[in-house]
Amino acid sequence: MSEFKILKIEVENQIALLTISQPKVLNALNETTMEELESAFCNRLKEADVGAIILTGAGEKAFVAGADIKELAQLNPLDARLKALRGHALLEVIEGFPKPVIAAINGYCLGGGCELALACHLRIASENAQFGLPEVKLGLIPGYGGTQRLPRLVGKGRAMEMILSGESISAQEAARIGLVNRVVSRENLIPKCRELAERILRNAPLAVRYSIEAVNTGLEMSLQEATRLEASFFGLSCATEDMREGTRAFTEKRKPQFKGR
Ligand code: CAA
Repeated sequence: MSEFKILKIEVENQIALLTISQPKVLNALNETTMEELESAFCNRLKEADVGAIILTGAGEKAFVAGADIKELAQLNPLDARLKALRGHALLEVIEGFPKPVIAAINGYCLGGGCELALACHLRIASENAQFGLPEVKLGLIPGYGGTQRLPRLVGKGRAMEMILSGESISAQEAARIGLVNRVVSRENLIPKCRELAERILRNAPLAVRYSIEAVNTGLEMSLQEATRLEASFFGLSCATEDMREGTRAFTEKRKPQFKGR
């Protein structure tokens, strides 16, 4: 029996499909969901049979419609701050996860849900998806990193408009401003995410891992510091068996057999 009440994890061919399954409340993030996500990323998804993760929401309507507003309504300022800090810690784990995490956004992607998607490495949306940070409509501000990750991804002006208006944008608009990588039909969403995960999984796992870390960490540094960091990871990648195999396979005109070492 699954250890989770809300999450579902199905692993097939090294790809874990991680589904937030509370469709009656549009997969709103409550305390239990946050705890289960923490547990999933700190335990099951770290196991060797998982190479990539696709994160999605159950049902026809929503990826995640935000943090659970009924829980938020009960918070005092101190608890609210702690809740935000806890959310940040989880989203940092996801952002820094050493295996690619792809958000498969299948509907409403609002508030904390949008912030969760922003922490993933890649975002693919279905045509019916809608994106927004509507917190100001509730007298709140985004609390799971939205004021920081959204401007870093789409630029300050566009982020300001979404955050201050609280209004949603379509999947097509999200793709136009770089909030999602691409838009696909609803029925193609998971297959396209799988295809993308498979393409990444053909590459050397340590090189993928170092790339994630170089991009994430480097973006918070000066260009000079960041390129030095890149040089260190480049050096590190040359210490791997996979680098020997990848370069040898190229010269021998065959497909590489990577081992993640
Ligand atoms: N929290 C708790 N419950 C939620 C929810 C949320 N974020 N979003 C939806 N639900 C619940 C609704 O209360 C409703 O439950 P009941 O049937 O028990 O009434 C059920 O999900 C279905 O929702 P609707 O009937 O509202 O569905 P709709 O299709 O008419 O509207 C919607 C869909 C536009 C997404 C609307 O549900 C909505 O506006 N939801 C709230 C979105 C929002 O404000 N998100 C931000 C939350 S704050 C936040 O996330 C803070 C942070 O940064 C950490």
